[in-house]
Amino acid sequence: MAKDKTLYTCRECGGTNPKWLGKCPHCGAWNSLDEGVAEPSAGSGKNRFQSLARTQPVATLSEIEATEVDRVPTGQEELDRVLGGGIVAGGVVLIGGDPGIGKSTLLLQALDALSTRLKVLYVTGEESGAQVALRSRRLGLAGTKVRVLAEIQLERIQAALESEQPAFCVIDSIQTLYSDQLASAPGSVAQVRECAAQLTRVAKSTGVSIVLVGHVTKEGALAGPRVLEHIVDTVLYFEGDTHSSFRLVRAIKNRFGAVNEIGVFAMTERGLKGVSNPSAIFLSTHGDPVPGSCVMVTLEGTRPLLVELQALVDAGGPSPRRLSVGLDRDRLAMLLAVLHRHAGVACFDQDVFVNAVGGVRIGEPAADLAVLLAIQSSLRGRPLPRGFVAFGEVGLAGEVRPAPRGLERLKEAAKLGFSVAVVPKANAPKKPIEGLTIHPVERIEQAIDLVRNL
Ligand code: TYD
Ligand code: MG
Repeated sequence: MAKDKTLYTCRECGGTNPKWLGKCPHCGAWNSLDEGVAEPSAGSGKNRFQSLARTQPVATLSEIEATEVDRVPTGQEELDRVLGGGIVAGGVVLIGGDPGIGKSTLLLQALDALSTRLKVLYVTGEESGAQVALRSRRLGLAGTKVRVLAEIQLERIQAALESEQPAFCVIDSIQTLYSDQLASAPGSVAQVRECAAQLTRVAKSTGVSIVLVGHVTKEGALAGPRVLEHIVDTVLYFEGDTHSSFRLVRAIKNRFGAVNEIGVFAMTERGLKGVSNPSAIFLSTHGDPVPGSCVMVTLEGTRPLLVELQALVDAGGPSPRRLSVGLDRDRLAMLLAVLHRHAGVACFDQDVFVNAVGGVRIGEPAADLAVLLAIQSSLRGRPLPRGFVAFGEVGLAGEVRPAPRGLERLKEAAKLGFSVAVVPKANAPKKPIEGLTIHPVERIEQAIDLVRNL
């Protein structure tokens, strides 16, 4: 096959050049040219993503029939929950996560469950067929009908997709693939983008559902260009602490469902098992309450989770450190300023560390109040009372704002045996909740005063 012409495209201005240059001749940006395949000029205005939405006559929106997409459940209930009910035919899912977190394991289990009903193909670029076989034995998948291809060249994978005609295909991983059309090495921006775009085209034109496994860089972003996240329909992230057995799968983007759902798994000797009632797994098991610990109720998707937040405040040097694991560090700095200005609690000469137990990441601002109470508790060296929970967003003016669906959060806390709650005033329920004493607060200083006297 004749090699298609390559073309270098500027990331900044989109200008193209037939050769690589250090400086873009169009906009003058440095080191911004990426290799790509030149589109054949035949056909008028042929767009490289043309097949993503096939050309149709112009129509009135209200007259277009809204067909519900067909979903195939993967057999992994927790995975289906994040996907919005199952895999969509022709859908492309990108799943990212740290090495060793369980991406290959989960997908092999899902493939096996699907293989009883559908034709499935597992393309492995990282492991040999024998290694995959070893894993499948370990998972107890003897006699599985999953078809396996150990291959990293895109064109051969495309040929295999054509001859095998699977309904569902996993590419493990997109960073190992390379296309003949490009000179750059596998894993480079150009290769990753080109391979993903080609596979997406195949998925849209043939209806095969494709799952791409992606690596995560040290900074925590999916390696490869951001454009990868734009090309695919769904982006899932695997998170969790590799030292603990619990794993979360979170949707970052989903064209076919909600993005706030999480799936919870536990890594066992025989692969990943879904955890259908995860509300208490992120609590550490102290005998007696300890200073610097506060439990919050976070609401991810439809299920409330109780998560323990820990803070350690310690005398720091001339430039004290603020470190956070699982929580936003900029937000921590902001909360410390609010704590000082509005509640008079100063930490400017102290190192402050905060951590969400179990490797869970909390993005919602409802964690603010619990973070501040944990910090205050550590600073004073006094634990919060036994069975204590708190949640609520804290604003720059020192106000405590309500969290969405407060009643559900409180009910879950009561169910798990918590007995004291500090919550935003607007979240205080009208009817009392059995076993739970609720203290509504409007301002951060009020909350700090209140726990001093509890
Ligand atoms: P893996 O799926 O290979 O991770 P990734 O593809 O994300 O890099 O995860 C493998 C890890 O999980 C490895 O450290 C071993 C562990 N593991 C189990 O604990 N139980 C099992 O049944 C399997 C298959 C793996
Ligand atoms: Mg793997």
